[in-house]
Amino acid sequence: MKKKIFISVVVFLLGLIGFSVFSYFHSFELKGKKTVEVALGKTYQEEGVQANLFFLPLRSLVRRTGTVDTEKVGTYEITYHLPFQTLKRTVIVKDKNAPVITLHGENPLTFSYGQPYVEEGFEALDDVDQDVTDRVKVTSHIDEKTPGTYEVVYEVTDTAQNQTSVTRTVTIVDDQAPTLELEGNDTIYISVGATYTEPGYHASDNYDGDVTSRVVVDSKVDIQTAGTYSIHYSVEDSFGNRAEKSRTVVVRKSDITYIRGILLVNKTHSLPSNYAPGENQEARNALTELQQAAAKQGYSLPLLSGYRSYSYQKTLYQNYVNRDGEEKANTYSAKPGQSEHQTGLAFDVGDLNSSFGRTPAGIWLKENAHLYGFIIRYPQGKESITGYAYEPWHVRYLGVSVATEVYQQGVTLEEYLGVA
Ligand code: DAL
Ligand code: ZN
Repeated sequence: MKKKIFISVVVFLLGLIGFSVFSYFHSFELKGKKTVEVALGKTYQEEGVQANLFFLPLRSLVRRTGTVDTEKVGTYEITYHLPFQTLKRTVIVKDKNAPVITLHGENPLTFSYGQPYVEEGFEALDDVDQDVTDRVKVTSHIDEKTPGTYEVVYEVTDTAQNQTSVTRTVTIVDDQAPTLELEGNDTIYISVGATYTEPGYHASDNYDGDVTSRVVVDSKVDIQTAGTYSIHYSVEDSFGNRAEKSRTVVVRKSDITYIRGILLVNKTHSLPSNYAPGENQEARNALTELQQAAAKQGYSLPLLSGYRSYSYQKTLYQNYVNRDGEEKANTYSAKPGQSEHQTGLAFDVGDLNSSFGRTPAGIWLKENAHLYGFIIRYPQGKESITGYAYEPWHVRYLGVSVATEVYQQGVTLEEYLGVA
């Protein structure tokens, strides 16, 4: 009995010693980290354990449990068992992939100023959440009112908080040229020596608005030399878009006499029968101002005769010849083609009587006509120069500056132009 107890104690002690030696001298540890993260869909490589007793590998004693499914998000445990001891590794399969945003349409995208920006769409796909298109947040920095380069930012976050963002670069270009319109005819015929009056033009741009003041006019017209000339008009908007137009000016020799741009009509300088410009609008407007100014002073200056065609003058002259004879008629009436009324620049106002020049209205007209651009064309005492009797009612439009010079010099138009 004693022997049995003794053997049991010895076995126990040997076991205890063995266990202690084993516990003290073996090593059992995880290779790699205790907690490992692995991206969904990626291969997981388990690093295993180190298990030794002194130099003796104990691998065959180690039992492993637990699996990792890298196709499924989750927390997995791998357990290594040795008698009396276990080791655990936590493997977290995580969704580390951000969704992918695909933009429809062009990127970079360019469109014309004035057009609206049209979002061409997008889609977003996530490996876990699948279609996340409706979670995409779109931030547009586009200012459609100003040409330039802008960004539209598309952002989306999946359930695992993976975020992605894509940018579309949008450029608004002003590629539209201004519109340039010429007033008046494309071809203008003008007599040598006459004054070329620009009929005008207008330019507007989709971005800059009215750009008429930016129109550059390049004129090669030499009014003193017969020929065909071109006037070139061009305009550029703020983005360098250009519009161009041209006008042709034909300077023709003619029987019409212009001196320093002033049309001269008298007994030696006639107009052809087909010269029929009608009433000159600028002259007529000036006359209206003159009449209004006279009315303010209490003087009535009614218009008695304005533009007269060649044929009308012919009838008129013939009537005077029939009444007074040719010699007398020539002192007060112009032959057809020799009347200033055919220019559209002359008017008879007030009263067709030489005594009109002594009336307050006639005196006012003589002293103030130049302020409105007119001269008394046939003054008293100048009959030998003008070829006509005194006509205090007949005014000729020259424009304010020339009329004022003629008035201040106290001369006739013939003297002023050096042809007296
Ligand atoms: N009475 C002027 C001169 C004309 O007939 O035109
Ligand atoms: Zn007249």
